[in-house]
Amino acid sequence: MATDGHGLLAGKTGIISGALDPDSISWAVAEAAHREGARFVLTNAPVSKRFGQLDALSEATGGSPIVYADATSDADMDALYAEATGHAGGQIDFVVHSIGMGLNVRKGKAYEELKYEWYQKTLDISAVSLHRMVAAGLRADAIASGGSVVAMSYIGAQRTFSTYSEMGDAKALLESIVRSFGYRLGKKSIRINALSQSPTKTTAGGGIEGFDALYDFADKVAPLGNADQASCADYTVTLLSDYTRMVTMQTLFHDGGYNNMGISEEIVREMMAQKDA
Ligand code: NAI
Repeated sequence: MATDGHGLLAGKTGIISGALDPDSISWAVAEAAHREGARFVLTNAPVSKRFGQLDALSEATGGSPIVYADATSDADMDALYAEATGHAGGQIDFVVHSIGMGLNVRKGKAYEELKYEWYQKTLDISAVSLHRMVAAGLRADAIASGGSVVAMSYIGAQRTFSTYSEMGDAKALLESIVRSFGYRLGKKSIRINALSQSPTKTTAGGGIEGFDALYDFADKVAPLGNADQASCADYTVTLLSDYTRMVTMQTLFHDGGYNNMGISEEIVREMMAQKDA
């Protein structure tokens, strides 16, 4: 486990979105990026100001400025980059998109009965916001050559997980935006990747019905078990660093090997025990 920094992001500046509380994946990303020498702006939705804990994260990362911005608002995204480039003293080197919310999922609406107004909002918050975030960066010419964008995703983009419902569609769109933008960003020597993370115990994760079962199943199937926030943060740091400068347009699985598994001995044994009982 990385405890001391290696200066992987020394001199780099950026934006880290989506840290709500210490369980948030991007909370760990911010701590790791700080450890590796980066300076960055923290951002989250204006509504999170009431119940989030960004002030503590700002303090823990050397006084990172906080910009409350709605990722579904172009004006807010423009303001975010104005603040970020001001803080950096020029173009920034990285953007971390760690934003998601499934309205139908949260409100217990089954996939067959999606309320489309909520569905659109889910797609807007969880996927189109990546497009807005990158597009605003390009509008402001705020992302430097050699820059890196990372967006958090889940294997529900490729496979159906019963209760993940509309979020599977949102992640499929998110990963498609990664590919579509990857081509265009490449012309500016900027890269963009989706990091497909294990089920992780966070506020957003807990909003999925049957999350504990999903979590335990993945943990028993993945040869290395589920990846936690801290390991996800370490991987993210490598993706923001120059060591991965030729990697773009990928969905990179950070899931202890889960995506390449079918069934594990542990699950087989449990199924057989159930049958025998
Ligand atoms: P989280 O609840 O800590 O983070 C989600 C963040 O999205 C929150 O900080 C929330 O305030 C922010 N957000 C929601 N609407 C917003 C808006 N309109 N504008 C700006 N920010 C907004 O949960 P977590 O799990 O850390 O989620 C981060 C990312 O990781 C999400 O994209 C999620 O889908 C993804 N992910 C989570 C997994 C899990 O099991 N927890 C697994 C794989 C991916």
